[in-house]
Amino acid sequence: MSETDKNLEARFEAYVAEEKKIEPKDWMPDSYRKTLIRQISQHAHSEIVGMLPEGNWISRAPSLKRKAILLAKVQDEAGHGLYLYSAAETLGVTRNQMLNDLHTGKAKYSSIFNYPTLTWADMGAVGWLVDGAAIMNQVPLCKCSYGPYARAMVRVCKEESFHQRQGFQVMLNLAQGTDEQKDMAQDALNRWWWPSLMMFGPNDADSPHSAQSMKWNIKRFSNDELRQRFVDMTVPQAELLGLTIPDPDLKWNEERGHYDFGEIQWEEFYNVIQGNGPCNKERIAARVKAHDEGAWVREAANAYAKKENEKRSKSATHAA
Ligand SMILES: [Fe+2]
Ligand SMILES: [Fe+2]
Repeated sequence: MSETDKNLEARFEAYVAEEKKIEPKDWMPDSYRKTLIRQISQHAHSEIVGMLPEGNWISRAPSLKRKAILLAKVQDEAGHGLYLYSAAETLGVTRNQMLNDLHTGKAKYSSIFNYPTLTWADMGAVGWLVDGAAIMNQVPLCKCSYGPYARAMVRVCKEESFHQRQGFQVMLNLAQGTDEQKDMAQDALNRWWWPSLMMFGPNDADSPHSAQSMKWNIKRFSNDELRQRFVDMTVPQAELLGLTIPDPDLKWNEERGHYDFGEIQWEEFYNVIQGNGPCNKERIAARVKAHDEGAWVREAANAYAKKENEKRSKSATHAA
């Protein structure tokens, strides 16, 4: 590393340590840039793929009100994806490259969206648990050292909070409904609980990039810390619903001041990440189809932009 690079790196590290924001035109280490491109694009893909399991229920929502709420929620997720793709683009990657990596299976997205949504209660469980876990993960990102990512997260988190509440309300209505409705809510909780805990990623001991990301102020809390917070927050909510969390080892630990919980089936997690979850192929196929069918929109927008540019440069020549 040259003397100049060393100085730049030292300045960058001091800047981050002082809780200042790094902006797109600032010098940054290559590995910081790469880490952010990977994380932000994965996050963007998760938002966009995350629209699919819920989009599946828009036409079957049980009332007009529920349909409007679900539609608004799914549209929010599209917006989150767009802010995040834009934030990643400020680091020098193109949208085309990111989408190509998603469509060819090179880029990952959250494992949770590879599970099917089988009943209406899944809309409740997804909002309550999946958006709830997303908030836990994303609130600390509002203070992330990379400016464009941190700023995008502020609005995203406000919207996630609405998503979580609407999900909880769906669960509450079902839990207070007929026996059949309550069973449906319990069944959804049974299926979504463990995959939601997996959303926080591997245990700290198996999460090699975490320490560097913490040093760079990208990550503020470890995977296990965030997972514990999520469990501690969610158990009383399940009690309020009168539903049972599917974990025989779940127990309040007086000494730790936290809930103890059972071992996660990591084999399932890695299997889903590697593309073998129940819906991986279906999800990617749906994204590729949407992209292909949208080709004419992109072509039309490009043709229009070209025409406008030509008009502008012609009038500039005339003026000269
Ligand atoms: Fe979102
Ligand atoms: Fe959400």
